[in-house]
Amino acid sequence: MKRIQKICIAFLLVAASTQNTKAQVYKDPKAPVESRVSDLVSKMTLEEKVDFINGKDWMYTKPIARLGVPSFKMTDGPTGTNTHGKSTAYPASILNAATWDNALNYRLGAALGNDCRSRNVNFLLAPGVNIARAPMAGRNFEYLGEDPYLSSSLVVSYITGVQSKGVVATVKHFAANNEEYDRNNISSDIDERTLREIYLPAFKAAVQKANVGAVMNSYNLVNGVQASHNNYLNNVILKEQWGFKGILMSDWGGVHDGLAAFKGGTDLEMPGNAFMKPEVLLPAFKRGEITEAMINEKVTRILRVCFTYGFFDRPQLIESIPNDDPASAAVALDLARGGIVLLKNQGNILPLQLSKTKKIAIIGPNGDTYNTGGGSSRTTPFHSVSTLEGLKKLAKGVEVNYTMGIPSLNSLASKSVFYTNSDLNTVGLTAEYFNNRNLEGKPNGVRIEKIIDNEWVQTPGIEGIGQDNFSARYTGIIKPTKTTDYKFTVQGDDGYRLWVNGEKVMDLWKEQSPIITNKMIHLEAGKEYSIKLEYFESGGDASIRFAWYEPTDENYNDAIKMASESDVAIVCIGFNLQIEHEGSDRPFELLEMDETLIDKVTKANPNTIVVLNAGGNVHMTPWLSKVKGLVHAFYPGQEGGTAVAEILLGLVNPSGKLPVSFEKEWADNPTNKNYYDTDKDMRVPYKEELMLGYRYYDTKKVEPMFPFGFGLSYTTFTYSNLKVDLKQNDAKIAATVTFDVKNTGKVDGAEVAELYVSDPVCPVIRPAKELKGFSKVFLKSGETKKVTIDLDEAAFSYFKTAQKAFGFDPGDFGILVGSSSQDIKLQKTIKVN
Ligand code: BGC
Repeated sequence: MKRIQKICIAFLLVAASTQNTKAQVYKDPKAPVESRVSDLVSKMTLEEKVDFINGKDWMYTKPIARLGVPSFKMTDGPTGTNTHGKSTAYPASILNAATWDNALNYRLGAALGNDCRSRNVNFLLAPGVNIARAPMAGRNFEYLGEDPYLSSSLVVSYITGVQSKGVVATVKHFAANNEEYDRNNISSDIDERTLREIYLPAFKAAVQKANVGAVMNSYNLVNGVQASHNNYLNNVILKEQWGFKGILMSDWGGVHDGLAAFKGGTDLEMPGNAFMKPEVLLPAFKRGEITEAMINEKVTRILRVCFTYGFFDRPQLIESIPNDDPASAAVALDLARGGIVLLKNQGNILPLQLSKTKKIAIIGPNGDTYNTGGGSSRTTPFHSVSTLEGLKKLAKGVEVNYTMGIPSLNSLASKSVFYTNSDLNTVGLTAEYFNNRNLEGKPNGVRIEKIIDNEWVQTPGIEGIGQDNFSARYTGIIKPTKTTDYKFTVQGDDGYRLWVNGEKVMDLWKEQSPIITNKMIHLEAGKEYSIKLEYFESGGDASIRFAWYEPTDENYNDAIKMASESDVAIVCIGFNLQIEHEGSDRPFELLEMDETLIDKVTKANPNTIVVLNAGGNVHMTPWLSKVKGLVHAFYPGQEGGTAVAEILLGLVNPSGKLPVSFEKEWADNPTNKNYYDTDKDMRVPYKEELMLGYRYYDTKKVEPMFPFGFGLSYTTFTYSNLKVDLKQNDAKIAATVTFDVKNTGKVDGAEVAELYVSDPVCPVIRPAKELKGFSKVFLKSGETKKVTIDLDEAAFSYFKTAQKAFGFDPGDFGILVGSSSQDIKLQKTIKVN
């Protein structure tokens, strides 16, 4: 604990015991929270109060030294307390959702709570619960999938776990942050019923069932109004209708107008003092536009949470909890074991039979790394286990070899030869750098760059050019020595465009993560071709790489050789923190090199298994039929390599199930025509309404690649004996659904039993079925367990727009129990009156 904070707390404790507590109610730990809050508010000046509703130094609340109010500390999450240095890196939230395991998600929350306490952190800026609409959305990996019931259920477990440790959870991003594409400007336009049934339930559950201490707004607009300014969302729904008593904070830089945010429900601007600051609010107060009562209300909310969680009365730091806590690592491992999803297992290639295996080839860039998404959720662990390390350790008696398999863009860039002009005397391209994003005016610096392989942590090293908001133009010529098809590859963060011989062949002139573009161009030997590459950097990471080369098998020789000499090839590919992160969307397709690698390896060895890293689906149609096994590891956290190896070897029976439907083609996804703001009006109309994910695929009978709730196991389960015991009085329903699940296979394992409700006759459109319950059951081989799932009226209700409330229509309802949304094993019709 920092010395100053120790002093503050000691001061408060001493003060509480020795002073006249009547006059110092806020210092009395025994006084009711509301009395302490109002006492402290009454002692604050107006100036102190308007200042207090702003954060400080990126991750802290404001202190008030005069009154002994300390500054409280925050950290990002959701799967690692990552802001203040290294930390346990749990799997990505999407994997945690794939566990369908409330107990495990509670343990995750509790472990994160401990991680916070060991770092003196008061607020965890997590969990995130926005719904997955499209696979490209840059933050899907930070969220819990497509289903409001599953997200609601798991988020309650997570928050309850965090808050049980005396740490405030912050559910985010309220609301409808369903894409990162232009996230600060686009408006998620959603009709009332869809908003209530799909996009808000997890937030509502966080507030009403988990009593979450804080909520963070999203960057996007909702129905035309910035989330942090959105009166309807924040004041009407969150505070009035749901009764939220905690802190509503902005996302970092999410406020754009101080008064609008103040009136629109924001209680705390983060990181602070940009718009909702004293310079704006005090004049507004003087003009009579805002009242002191309104200011008090926001201060009250912040203080209420801090008093409730004991921040004034005890040290937040628990020195006995280590920063690198083995107990947290154990939770990270259990999550990865429980959430990795086995999607394909042709001919039972898995689990690998060690007795029949002499050599395993691990091939691919993700095979020997710690794989994670990027952005504010990125956690750097103290230590991690890669798939290679996991297999080397656990595949006893087997030779495990590794090759990256694909040529790195760095090596291709370093082999690409350019000349500044036709005399071919000078190797390289002429690079001009401009201190603006549009190559305007005179360049601030010109130099020759032999290769274009730039990743700038600081500036490009040219006077007048900073880390952000600059552009560059690279010009010169190339002269191929062979007549053939050449591949041009550019990767840029942010925008770039390329001309070859005056023809524009690439144009990605937008803010983006380091997206790779490839273009095949036929070139003739001895001919000179002019090159012009333009690039701009907006903010954040900055990089530009450029290569041209003949795409031959030679580039994959190591992979082909190793695969052909091994009994089995494990191809480890997918995305990473550079490609999948907040601030921009990622591609649906795998990188072309990854797809080529699969092709080459499967030709060299048909016993190929892909281990995939991504925050959800990728375009599998081009390659899925070529591989025998597919393990979706999402981003499995620091212990991921152990869990992947255990699953490949059958030491752990896979039990994860998809928390999101996997489409065959992007065109199959119901949002495909209204996801990108193609007409540039900044509006994204959610025209699919309720028909998202399995609600759409099941209702409209479109076949997905893998349905929601799907995941394979090494054992088999049978379902029987479905009973529904329904009790009703007035509008209250209590239905107890019971059924038996038996492990009929040879190995122990867990099954996720899923319960869906259908409402076949209804005056309004309803999806074919909706998830309303689930249970993860661990069964030994041959064992049977009775599963009990309770349903109340919420399971039968929809949002009745005219009544502005949830309700159900009496009649027949289907109770469907199965092992995925499309594999219903038992069903019954019940009459609900
Ligand atoms: C993210 C938030 C995060 C905040 C603080 C923002 O860019 O959207 O999720 O908590 O930064 O790092």
